[in-house]
Amino acid sequence: MIIDGKKISAEIKEELKEKTAQLKRQGITVGLAVVRVGEDPASKVYVRNKEKACEYVGIQTKTIVLPEETTEEELLKLVEELNHDDAINGILVQLPLPKQINESTILLAIDPKKDVDGFHPVSVGKMVIGEKTFLPCTPAGIIEMLKRSGIEIAGRECVVIGRSNIVGKPMALLLLRENGTVTITHSKTRNLKETAKRADILISAIGKAKFITAEYVKEGAVVIDVGMNRDQEGKLCGDVDYESVSKIASAITPVPGGVGPMTVTMLLVNCIRSVEENS
Ligand code: GUN
Repeated sequence: MIIDGKKISAEIKEELKEKTAQLKRQGITVGLAVVRVGEDPASKVYVRNKEKACEYVGIQTKTIVLPEETTEEELLKLVEELNHDDAINGILVQLPLPKQINESTILLAIDPKKDVDGFHPVSVGKMVIGEKTFLPCTPAGIIEMLKRSGIEIAGRECVVIGRSNIVGKPMALLLLRENGTVTITHSKTRNLKETAKRADILISAIGKAKFITAEYVKEGAVVIDVGMNRDQEGKLCGDVDYESVSKIASAITPVPGGVGPMTVTMLLVNCIRSVEENS
């Protein structure tokens, strides 16, 4: 089975369109501020995709592009303005930021009520102890995709490859919340192949093109590919060697068209939730 993230996203977006229309009838508009600093080409694409998706479901976006040499103080001032702007329900500062700006300082400055990325320490802490909060979009999108594909998580061996704050760590916690038996692996893991091969659900977020070959995957496993890489010919590809792994996996996400669209869609979900819960 191919897990079609694009199709599942389209279904969710129709549901969200309905919700924004309903809010509009009550005189409520949903507003997202997107802040991009500098000209990182990947960030430009991600931000454009987020804007397009917002427009499609009826969320208003305010995109602010700042120059590469922006100081931390200047960015903090902007975040503070957005925190107090009643037309803005969600604030997203696209990462990575230029090196003179401390990312943690910026994320900490965002009002947790508007933290639609789920990166603020308050959001992270609540997620860890299982309280209701904004969940980070990529891992939340993966859970949603598994659920909507009828894939059971409870009691199963889940192996996450990667331990970033954006994907690996929150992914492990959300799988645990769904009662999965979770292992986190990373660059220092000694027996990665053997560990990955134990997985009923294998989630790869390492950022190395086609690294996960069939040798890492148990027959019948579910394989989720978070990677966004370029292969030797410059073609977009995931962490997973799709050709060999798709022959033994019971279900697999393609790149593109798998996890990526779900990440954007969960951002929309968080924006609408922000309005529903704070108004
Ligand atoms: N950079 C890569 N992924 C993300 C994301 O989900 N949110 C933000 N703000 N920046 C990112």
